[in-house]
Amino acid sequence: MNKKEAEKRISSLRTKLEGHNYKYYVLDEPTLSDAEYDSLFRQLEEFETEYPGLIRPDSPTQRVGAEPSKEFVSVAHTIPLLSLANAMNESELREFDVSVKKILESEEEVEYVAEPKLDGLAVELVYEKGKFVSGSTRGDGIVGEDITPNLKTIKSLPLRLRGEHVPSLLEVRGEVVIPLKAFKELNRRQEEKGEKLFANPRNAAAGSLRQLDPKISASRPLSIYCYAVGASKGYRSDNHSDSLSGLKKLGLPVSNLIKVCNGIKEAVKYFKEMEKLRDELDFEIDGIVLKVNDFSFQVRLGARARSPRWAIAGKFKPQQETTLIISINVQVGRTGALTPVAELEPVNVGGVTVKRATLHNQDEIDRKDVREGDRVIIQRAGDVIPEVVSVIKSERIRASKPYKIPTECPVCGAAVIRLPGEAVHNCQNPSCPAQLKESIKHFASKGAMDIDGLGDKLIEALVNKELIKNVSDLYTVTLEQLSSMERVADKSGQNILNALDKSRVTTLGRFLYALGIRHVGEQTGRVLADEYKIFESIKRADIESLENIEGVGPIVAKSVWNFFREEENQSTINRLFQNGIKFKDELENSANTLAGLSFVITGTFERLNRQERKEQIQSAGGKVSSSVSSKTNFLVAGENAGSKLEKAIKLGVRIISEKELILLISDSSKSEQ
Ligand code: IVH
Repeated sequence: MNKKEAEKRISSLRTKLEGHNYKYYVLDEPTLSDAEYDSLFRQLEEFETEYPGLIRPDSPTQRVGAEPSKEFVSVAHTIPLLSLANAMNESELREFDVSVKKILESEEEVEYVAEPKLDGLAVELVYEKGKFVSGSTRGDGIVGEDITPNLKTIKSLPLRLRGEHVPSLLEVRGEVVIPLKAFKELNRRQEEKGEKLFANPRNAAAGSLRQLDPKISASRPLSIYCYAVGASKGYRSDNHSDSLSGLKKLGLPVSNLIKVCNGIKEAVKYFKEMEKLRDELDFEIDGIVLKVNDFSFQVRLGARARSPRWAIAGKFKPQQETTLIISINVQVGRTGALTPVAELEPVNVGGVTVKRATLHNQDEIDRKDVREGDRVIIQRAGDVIPEVVSVIKSERIRASKPYKIPTECPVCGAAVIRLPGEAVHNCQNPSCPAQLKESIKHFASKGAMDIDGLGDKLIEALVNKELIKNVSDLYTVTLEQLSSMERVADKSGQNILNALDKSRVTTLGRFLYALGIRHVGEQTGRVLADEYKIFESIKRADIESLENIEGVGPIVAKSVWNFFREEENQSTINRLFQNGIKFKDELENSANTLAGLSFVITGTFERLNRQERKEQIQSAGGKVSSSVSSKTNFLVAGENAGSKLEKAIKLGVRIISEKELILLISDSSKSEQ
């Protein structure tokens, strides 16, 4: 292919990919599968590698291209980004309408554009001749910081404007946010990696945009919604709602919750509707914004020093309230981590009664100096657990003392320690009933073994009665034992047994997650399963090999390695296998060789004899021993297997059939081809 042809191909691929990005991220109507998108993206990358001179800064491949910068450069906004005056309730919204009418000397209803007030970070984007050339934070409204490379990583932000009438200059203002679902996922990943959690989506969005390394911004699920135009050339409209429709036509993301309201009555109705809708939205809003629609009216109304007279923010009832800390308790989690929790005088926060709030850990308690008996400000953000924001020190009682996490576990009395460099305190007793209860709840939970009907209360009762001392005991509980529990009828006892039985066949990823290895969440469980395919390979993986997996950092790698080295865990796993845990995906997906795995063969086989099977395993890199030990990874059992089978069961060695062995070997030979 010559350069001219390459240029054509590159341009067509770029247009296709941009079109897809627009449909996927702005319209939310994807037309290509992820695989098709990836394939086009790779083709473009290949062409661009071959012809680097043809790489354009607005190519979809250049979203994460930039090198980390040393510092942010200040940029002055062409037109200052003003702030908004606040209306704290409905009547203040009506007062705003009265003052607008007064200045306009009009008795007629004013047309307003009502918009959600997104709780994120304000930015300005600059497009020249349709190309995204730079972007900055709001800063103090006059001067912001250049964050162009980070903004380019936002998938819903077009690098090129669409349509036929592209203005020669367009400055667009908008709010960068992190959707709530993505925020939770982000915090879960942070937790898995052992990194600090973000307090709320707003902080996460702000922190993600102010990264010197755009690769970090790219890994964060940022979104943007545009709500106004700054300076422009060749972009005309007579009112705000037309101006927003124009932005949409150019391919810019604009919220679809925006509404034109004729008069304040309709605007107040919108305010109330949005306040109700607030908890159902996938991003946080802290109010609405009313803007006088007609631009000529906007000019007549003018601005104060920092805010326009033609717009107002209608703030929702605060998600923050003050209340009293009755006491501070400590909860013990499944890993033994102690979490201090404030028991509060119940208070209504934005429509929900809050009785408890997390205090996170000792460092957070020290930083905020939270004490029992303090009056505090608490905050609820979306459906994130309520937390204590700060203490009202002026109302503190004299006798109060700084709070210290106890040195003994409040549940089992064992020693509590805090490892150097870690924020959490841990109960040192692996058989602490609190830990056991929590780890069983985790094991049975939806994303893990998904044991239907085995609720928290029943788990607590089973542990209290000492019917379960280890997760593996779940699979030996009898109907009589279940029925002897309060509130468990015969029928539901049987249902629980059925659910337990069903859970025996699971996926490798789920099982890894269910084991409750520190820092291994659902996602990491799946990543490990995809990488190693076979449970035994994960068990014997060394730290280096674990660390080399994308998405597994040194903390996770060490935690996985440690977990499998602990005798207690080994015996639990063995007992789980004895009780019939099987992975439906392990053999199907296996593409690994048998290298490093040790086998014992016993019984008679249908197709090949024992010697032939032995040679087969060896040629696939596996080791075959004559006797079963705790080091054996698999016992291949044929017909009439005897004492070896018994020993394997006793030791919790995995037992597979001839058929399963064939699958293992055929998959490993596939990977050798
Ligand atoms: S308009 C002069 N519209 O609220 C108009 N702002 O206090 C100024 N915000 O810094 C902004 N959603 O970050 C506007 N639909 C919306 C908004 C919005 C959120 C934020 C923005 C601004 C702050 C103003």
